[in-house]
Amino acid sequence: MIETMRWEDNALILLDQTKLPLEISFYTCQNYQDVIHAIKGLVVRGAPAIGAAAAYGMALAAWECCRKDIKNCREYLLKAADELAVSRPTAVNLFWALDRVKELITGDKSSQQLFYDILAAADSILRDDVIINKKMGSIGARLIPQKAGILTHCNAGAFATGGYGTALGVIRAAHEEGKEIKVFADETRPLLQGARLTAFELMEEHIPVTLITDNMAGYVMYKGLVDLVIVGADRITARGDVANKIGTYSLAVLAKEHNIPFYVAAPVSTFDLTLKSGNEIPIEERNAQEVREIFGYQTAPLNVPVLNPAFDVTPHYLVSAIITERGIIYSPNEDAVRKIILSS
Ligand code: MRU
Repeated sequence: MIETMRWEDNALILLDQTKLPLEISFYTCQNYQDVIHAIKGLVVRGAPAIGAAAAYGMALAAWECCRKDIKNCREYLLKAADELAVSRPTAVNLFWALDRVKELITGDKSSQQLFYDILAAADSILRDDVIINKKMGSIGARLIPQKAGILTHCNAGAFATGGYGTALGVIRAAHEEGKEIKVFADETRPLLQGARLTAFELMEEHIPVTLITDNMAGYVMYKGLVDLVIVGADRITARGDVANKIGTYSLAVLAKEHNIPFYVAAPVSTFDLTLKSGNEIPIEERNAQEVREIFGYQTAPLNVPVLNPAFDVTPHYLVSAIITERGIIYSPNEDAVRKIILSS
């Protein structure tokens, strides 16, 4: 599998996800501003991958302190953290990773020491993410029956994480256990993460996948081809409301109508226990051109008014279970979420 990101020669090398599947190319971040640019432009995307990239962005800022002999390194790093924090608003993993790094920024450390500490933290965020995803995979695979038809949305796979994936990690684990599964991947307009990334990733792994446009989901469910839906998440509240890629909510409603379980796979770092209701989650509104065009080709009248929220919220009562590395939260509510998330 192609690596989503790596640290090399004091630079962050990102797989350029905007170019897939046509081109496998890499984007080099030499400073934290490059990382902000990459996060905003979806060169790197998916909640856990955004968090890890931001942590490496902080390592780049610390490296700059060393290289340029910046006098007040602590101040410079906190400024970098503030700027990285506004790159995308919805995925809470970004703030989780920045908070983890900020804890290391104390006034008594030299720039060198700050750099070593922050780089070590970024490495461990990335490395741990893969371990967590594999754990989630083996826990979640229990929910996947033999010969299951599985519908997924957007890309919650290796590209969206340090590796292995969350929702696709569960699918991968079921496949590795020898279950003969068949995946339906929603195309995921406007930016086609399902078509460009999920279909590509599953084909690489030889996991049977069929691509559908988003508006075909109801049809495939009605035809009895789907036994379960599984998606990732960008932020989950204390009562289990789930923000994920726009279109996820519609799938949950359709799943309920067809009596199909609706599962979410997400690490503990995706939970935001400071929020109760999903209405409190900031939803990113992206550029209108993403809807008026498909990758630069105009498909709608110029200047037609457009709505382009990147995420929606699925209320907890539509979620059958949330799979985490600490266990499965069935029929999520505040008690059930806290019990699993606050356990060690
Ligand atoms: O806009 P994106 O591509 O960053 O959105 C990604 C998603 O919505 C994913 O489903 C989510 O981040 C989970 S990734 C493990």
